[in-house]
Amino acid sequence: MKNDPFFWFKENRIVIPGVKEEHFFVHITDTHLDAIDELSTVEEIAKVEYQEELWAKYKKIFADKSGEPYGEPQMISTREAFDKQIALAEELQPEVLLMSGDNLDNMHPAGERYLAKRMGEYKGRFIAVPGNHEDPSCAGVWEAGVHTIDFDGFRIVAVDNSRKTVTGEDLAALKAVCAEGIPVIILCHVPICTPLCKEIMKSFDEYFYIEKGTADENAREFLELCESCDAVRAIICGHTHGYRDMEFAPGKPQIIGGQGHAGAVDLLTVAGK
Ligand SMILES: [Fe+2]
Repeated sequence: MKNDPFFWFKENRIVIPGVKEEHFFVHITDTHLDAIDELSTVEEIAKVEYQEELWAKYKKIFADKSGEPYGEPQMISTREAFDKQIALAEELQPEVLLMSGDNLDNMHPAGERYLAKRMGEYKGRFIAVPGNHEDPSCAGVWEAGVHTIDFDGFRIVAVDNSRKTVTGEDLAALKAVCAEGIPVIILCHVPICTPLCKEIMKSFDEYFYIEKGTADENAREFLELCESCDAVRAIICGHTHGYRDMEFAPGKPQIIGGQGHAGAVDLLTVAGK
């Protein structure tokens, strides 16, 4: 599967002193799955066909913008792409498959059924957050609220910031998790833009990130927590449909995955050195 020309890979290593083992994760984002099935209505089928055509055009636009691969192997339906991504993860067997949002192209019944079925069958552990194209929960795939998975010496914390903000309840939950002092890697959809990563983030329109000047109060608090809380060590996210990695605060990486429906995959290692 790894040699399938559909895929292109980035490798990242997040170093968190005190972590004893090497932990391997696969991160995918923006798979924008569109699906139909025997229960789909005529309108739903028409919408999926329309969206697939739209993405055939926009995948190339996004790939060109970031100088990423886009050729015949990437010219497949979002459903074929999604199946390939999941099959790859099953082959690579990460500790956890990280899905940072826009898993579905939009909430639609056949897509939700397909996603729930496919992830129900997934041979491994996964954690997903919603993207801006999705609802706060999707039965069997992601649930509203802040979710934590603990490892040796760090934790992955899934946060819904898909509307370029975080609810008061989620913000309080995230603060409580961070207050425990265990190193945190945040999994969310929307990247942040801070003075340190401004240069890189400004290659995208402001639609694509949370920034102090335009953020609402909760989003500003989220931003400040990420920047200044010692527990927060990294952010894994998506949304831009173009891969970037950078530091958003000294020693704190932000890794933005490329478009999953065009073959982007991050291979992520978390280790003590
Ligand atoms: Fe997206």
